[in-house]
Amino acid sequence: MINESRRGFMGKAFGAVAAVGAVGSLVAMKKTWDPLPSVMAAGFTTVDVSKLSDNKLEIAKWQGKPIFLLRFAADMPAVEKRSVKVGEHYYSIMIGLCTHLGCIPAYRDATHDFKCACHGGEFTAAGVHTFGPPPRPLDIPPFSIKDENTIVLGEAGPEYKALIASLSTDSNIA
Ligand code: FES
Repeated sequence: MINESRRGFMGKAFGAVAAVGAVGSLVAMKKTWDPLPSVMAAGFTTVDVSKLSDNKLEIAKWQGKPIFLLRFAADMPAVEKRSVKVGEHYYSIMIGLCTHLGCIPAYRDATHDFKCACHGGEFTAAGVHTFGPPPRPLDIPPFSIKDENTIVLGEAGPEYKALIASLSTDSNIA
C-alpha cells in the first residue's frame, strides 16, 4: 500500500518535470523562429500623430524611405479618398519620393501643395499629381491605425486595405 502510493507520487513528479521541460523547449523553439527584434524594428515604424500640427509637414523614416505625414487644417481642401482619419483629424500618409524620378518634393504650406525641384512636378497636399512629369500620385505606404494617436507604418491594416481598394476604382486620384 505504501509502495503503491509512493510509486504514484514518483510518477506524477516525473510527469510534472517532463511537462515543464517540454514547455521550456517549445518556448525556446518559438524564440528561434521569431524574427530578431532588429528585423521587426526595421520593418515597422510607429508614429505618434498627436505631436503633429495642422499644415506642418513631418517626415518619418520607414525602410529607409521618407514618409510624409501631413495633418490637414480645417481650411485645407482635403482629398477625402486619399486622406486618412485618425482620431479627430485627417492626414496624408505618403512616401515622400516623387513618382517621376524619385526626388523628395518640398511642401509649400502657403499654397498647401508639394513642389519637386528636380523637374517641376507638383502634387496637392493629398499627393495627387497636378503638374509636370510625375505620372501618378505619391505612393501610400502600408499602415495601420492602432489608436487615435498611433499609426504603424509597414503594417497593412484594414484602413489601408480599404483605402487602396477605393483608390483602385478611381484612376484620377489613385
Ligand atoms: S523627379 Fe520630381 S519632377 Fe522629376
